[in-house]
Amino acid sequence: MTRTLPFFPPDLFEPDRATLIDLVRDIGTGADQKFILGTRTAAFEEALAATLDGASVVTCGSGTTALSLVLAALDIGPGDEVVVPAFGCAPIAATVITAGATPVFADVRADTMTLDPELAGAAITPRTKAVMPAHQFSVMADMPAFEALAARHGVRLVEDSAVAQGAVLRGRPAGTWGDAGVFSFVQVKSFGMPGEGGAVITRDPDLAAAVRMLRNHGQDGRQRFVHHRIGHNSRFDEVMAAFQLARLPGLPARLARRASIAEYYTERFTPLAAQGIRPPPAERDGRCHYVYCLRAERRGELADHLAARGVGSHVYYPAPLPAQPAFARHARPGATWPNAAEASRTILALPVYPHLTDAEVEHIADAVCEFADDREDTQP
Ligand SMILES: Cc1ncc(COP(=O)(O)O)c(C=O)c1O
Repeated sequence: MTRTLPFFPPDLFEPDRATLIDLVRDIGTGADQKFILGTRTAAFEEALAATLDGASVVTCGSGTTALSLVLAALDIGPGDEVVVPAFGCAPIAATVITAGATPVFADVRADTMTLDPELAGAAITPRTKAVMPAHQFSVMADMPAFEALAARHGVRLVEDSAVAQGAVLRGRPAGTWGDAGVFSFVQVKSFGMPGEGGAVITRDPDLAAAVRMLRNHGQDGRQRFVHHRIGHNSRFDEVMAAFQLARLPGLPARLARRASIAEYYTERFTPLAAQGIRPPPAERDGRCHYVYCLRAERRGELADHLAARGVGSHVYYPAPLPAQPAFARHARPGATWPNAAEASRTILALPVYPHLTDAEVEHIADAVCEFADDREDTQP
């Protein structure tokens, strides 16, 4: 095993590099000089919609602005509360705050690290306008439970499916649950690209029209410089649209490869519980394999051990969201998030990108198992 295996591989787009260069040349020198929101963006939206049971897709500048556009289109703002998970990436809370609303943090489940529907329900108040669960790493949130919760309380359901493109839960694709879902195409995501981009997915035509307007300064696409609403600049790039169109047919195979790597890891790591290493839950439904996160009692030592064997790893979210300096003032006094804290303490992500070879995957799994074996008799 000579190659080092970085957590973020620099050769992710290697097979498509020639396509990208051709597209930059073609679009860069095209007669129409159209670089955003052109025919390629429209074709990309249509192609994505075909993978999502025909739901409307509106592409935009990033997964973060996709969330902001949804919140704006749902008229969520000052005085409103949105229930969000206490563990996850910053945009989950930041987009609620930038909308002028208040994030209300509820703890995640201990096993899946996704928002706990019961605790989310307990956090609902008369000011709650929406619940916003996020799929985490490789596991979709319990969307049937959130659908029922939102219906019971008469609140909106926003599905942060930024990491879960291609996942399916009970036959229904990620992104199509709730009032709206989002995708992120930032490079590390399963359908990442060499640039920034995202999408809003919704079955509600009025919501889709509002998002479409809001992504381009509130213009309706018919009359330029007439602004119906205060919007955002969150438009999609034509080169990226054409590039993603070219890569879309290969996505199912890349996702399947990620799934088989993840299943192999889980098989190897399931026996390591007594040594303080736990894989994510093994079920297959509602899985996305964007990031493979195990839980390790001696995380720092394991990361060092892997690094010494040329294996990169990554700590996703070293602190619960309400413990972050940016969000601490939104934490309800006296509230605690023990599962989020435990996840922050133990989580470690391993490489799971599709072009890892079988030998490399085995090397990574061997390195984790060797660490566990070495420490078998030193467990507390
Ligand atoms: C769960 C989740 N939501 C939202 C985002 C935001 O996506 P982007 O980085 O494209 O803005 C990300 C990715 O960073 C994410 O992981």
